[in-house]
Amino acid sequence: MQKNTEKIARIFAEKANCELINIKDVSEVKIEKYNLIGFGSGVYRESLSPKLFRLVGKLNLEGKNVFVFSTSGVGIKFYNNSLIRVLESKGAIVKGSFACKGSFIAGEFTDKKIFNIIGKLSQDHPDDRDFKESERFIMRILNSI
Ligand SMILES: Cc1cc2nc3c(=O)[nH]c(=O)nc-3n(C[C@H](O)[C@H](O)[C@H](O)COP(=O)(O)O)c2cc1C
Repeated sequence: MQKNTEKIARIFAEKANCELINIKDVSEVKIEKYNLIGFGSGVYRESLSPKLFRLVGKLNLEGKNVFVFSTSGVGIKFYNNSLIRVLESKGAIVKGSFACKGSFIAGEFTDKKIFNIIGKLSQDHPDDRDFKESERFIMRILNSI
């Protein structure tokens, strides 16, 4: 657990001056008071956290502004799409999708060569450029709501 996604989440929380909630620490989230909610996690075996899907499944998100973010070895937004579809199906207004690379050590969980390569490419991420990108992303959203 590198907490890569948490580093990005901290930037969002700082810039938006909002609360950062670790899904592990909550059994119930009262969302009525929020007008923008970001949902994010690391990507494990091609998917965002199942806990995130379970939480979203329980929330009433009709008309809520939301965004999705993730870090992964490859750093592509594609991984966010399945959660985005769920959010849309719940009537949420999806304001954006953010992704960047997040480092990991392939040897710790696989001996597949491809993960060695992806692991190397993601080394030292998220980096300053990723942080700058995440700042730009959240500022764009904040300016649009
Ligand atoms: C067990 C495991 C499985 C992973 N599976 C994927 C994957 O399918 N695709 C990918 O791009 N990255 C994958 N990664 C890399 C992580 O998504 C990446 O390191 C991410 O930044 C982790 O986020 P976190 O530190 O917030 O948990 C995997 C990493 C681990 C340890």
